[in-house]
Amino acid sequence: MLDFRCHHFAQGEPLLIIAIDGPAASGKSTVAREVASRLHFRHLDTGAMYRAVTWLALQNRTSPSDAATLIRLANESPVTFSYLDGASIATAVRIGDRDVTTAVRLPEIDANVSAVASVPEVRAALVAQQRKLAAVFDTVVEGRDIGTVVFPAADLKVFLTASVEERARRRQLDHVAQGISVGTDEVQARLEKRDLIDSTRAASPLEVAPDAELLDTTGLTVEEVVDRIVERVEAIL
Ligand code: CDP
Repeated sequence: MLDFRCHHFAQGEPLLIIAIDGPAASGKSTVAREVASRLHFRHLDTGAMYRAVTWLALQNRTSPSDAATLIRLANESPVTFSYLDGASIATAVRIGDRDVTTAVRLPEIDANVSAVASVPEVRAALVAQQRKLAAVFDTVVEGRDIGTVVFPAADLKVFLTASVEERARRRQLDHVAQGISVGTDEVQARLEKRDLIDSTRAASPLEVAPDAELLDTTGLTVEEVVDRIVERVEAIL
């Protein structure tokens, strides 16, 4: 099997970036992680970074509408990921020295993250960190603006979609696994609210890059989606 391709960097070969964008609960994380593992690339979850800043803001009792404080927090407290040697998937996400791996998945973060992510200077701080993180390894980067703004020259861009009912069903399963009880209608309403904010904000809205491959995952298994993306990547390796 391939080892991490970071050594190619030393040999002067450009690193590869695979951009996976899409709306809330479209399956990005599951698919991006699996694609990264199969290819021995690193996985970078940019949503976790916006979630981490949101966690810090709530912790400090900062309102998600207090842009000046959010900007200061995002600039003062970098988000970092820990990876075991040679592993594709991070084992922990931290903001400053606080481990927020589990906390960033709580519903109160879901409810506030889109407001935090709509502040342009917060985005600028995190985008700079994302570019640095992906500058050392071949990376599968997942988010909302990866193919449009963060890595417009990505080697492959995929935009994952699924019907809102299917996405609500998937997020509900995540909640059940975490022991969180929320009704399916409520989950769907929250997803629709977040998608609306994410796709109508002025700064880097959620949109399909013109050169992205649109992949509707409704009715497809994770394996089918992953196979399709891995095939595309192998064709350009
Ligand atoms: O996992 P899920 O699809 O629910 O969300 P996520 O990928 O963890 O992203 C959480 C939120 O962060 C999104 O709803 C966006 O508001 C924001 N985000 C963003 O603005 N840009 C990114 N590149 C990634 C996430």
